[in-house]
Amino acid sequence: METNNAKSIAILGRQPALGIAELESLYGADSVQPFGDSACFVEKEACAIDFKRLGGSVRLATILLKLPSTKWHDIEKFIVAAAPQHAAKVEGKLSFGISVYGLNVPPKQIAHTALLMKKSIKASGKSVRMVPHKNATLGSAVVLYNKLTRSDNWELLIVSDGKTAYLAQTNFIQDIDAYSARDQARPKRDAKVGMLPPKLAQIIINLSVGKLDGLENEDCRLEKTTNKSSPILNPQSPVRILDPFCGTGVLLQEAMLMDYDIYGSDVEPRMVEYSIANLKWLDGLYPNVGDYRRIEIGDATSHHWNKPENITIVACETYLGQPLSSLPNSEHLSKIIYEVNLLHHKFLENIGNQIKPGTRLCLAVPTWRGKHEFLHLPTLDHLTEIGYTRNKYKHVSDEDLIYHREGQVVGRELLVLIKN
Ligand SMILES: C[S@@+](CC[C@H](N)C(=O)[O-])C[C@H]1O[C@@H](n2cnc3c(N)ncnc32)[C@H](O)[C@@H]1O
Repeated sequence: METNNAKSIAILGRQPALGIAELESLYGADSVQPFGDSACFVEKEACAIDFKRLGGSVRLATILLKLPSTKWHDIEKFIVAAAPQHAAKVEGKLSFGISVYGLNVPPKQIAHTALLMKKSIKASGKSVRMVPHKNATLGSAVVLYNKLTRSDNWELLIVSDGKTAYLAQTNFIQDIDAYSARDQARPKRDAKVGMLPPKLAQIIINLSVGKLDGLENEDCRLEKTTNKSSPILNPQSPVRILDPFCGTGVLLQEAMLMDYDIYGSDVEPRMVEYSIANLKWLDGLYPNVGDYRRIEIGDATSHHWNKPENITIVACETYLGQPLSSLPNSEHLSKIIYEVNLLHHKFLENIGNQIKPGTRLCLAVPTWRGKHEFLHLPTLDHLTEIGYTRNKYKHVSDEDLIYHREGQVVGRELLVLIKN
């Protein structure tokens, strides 16, 4: 993609590669272009992107212009001079703030620039309010509380890759409270099966779904809001997503919020009960999402799923093996990997015999942080033999697609497959 064609810019989450893969998956490799360490250009207008379904982007902004320089002094001069003319177009009192990505500017200096902007807007006769600047980027709570994503307010983003810099205006920001509410408030949780973060569940679903060709709202006059807790509508239904390791149902929940039909199974009857209870609870909050629902007990290595020809997508976090707080000795680790690998191999063979060719799967599978590198499931080297093709991304490598936190032994490798 030519950067000149970019209409919006996404600010990526803690693991930028996951956010890039997600955008590439949904909008196509040629419509996205990573920019610097923490951002990605998108060819679509921000309002045409269903931001709420993105787990890997924390902000989405409309690109206003390319700045004349990456030097803060020049940027400051430019935005302070341009501000009054743009502020005049806004009705009523304007609230604003500035966030900077990819430039090493002390927060004090950013606050100083914001103050100069405020003064120049005020001098032009416009009523204006500046939010407090404590860090180089405003916290999402500050942006949401001050309603800076509304079109009559501004969160101005200055985003740079060190060589060029862009000015953008935030349209959407991740609502951390909404994620916590649907994560922590669920009636049935189980720390032992490991908690799949809802954002990661969204990424897994988005990688499994693939390109959203023309299925989103392209009409920017139908403005979406970030704060409304309305379901994420997707005209692509009925897409039926199967999670064969559903656990407490986090992935099914996120799929339901995207209005997909859901089908879950798990070998543990208790987990099936938990998923049913959690989804029932979600129903109370969002009564109109997901028409079809089925959850049953089943061992993924041998289960026969109901009407497998109607399963369009498989998305799950699989069994990650026993939780490990430190790296075991190599004999113990080899044993763990052998057993978990066998389960995955059998599962892939079993499901491969039931789903249609062309079915897409995104599996978060375990990978172990060894002394020097990640140790992968050996089955990943034999995918072709068991009838799968691994999806490749243009902007990220396989090795980048590992969800991992510092100090964790078991990470999750995001494996996107297509059934041959
Ligand atoms: C890592 S958890 C998945 C957690 C789930 N994504 C969630 O958010 O709660 C793995 C799940 O796989 C299930 N499991 C383990 N072996 C299985 C098998 N052979 N077939 C089906 N499910 C299995 C476990 O009961 C557990 O619920």
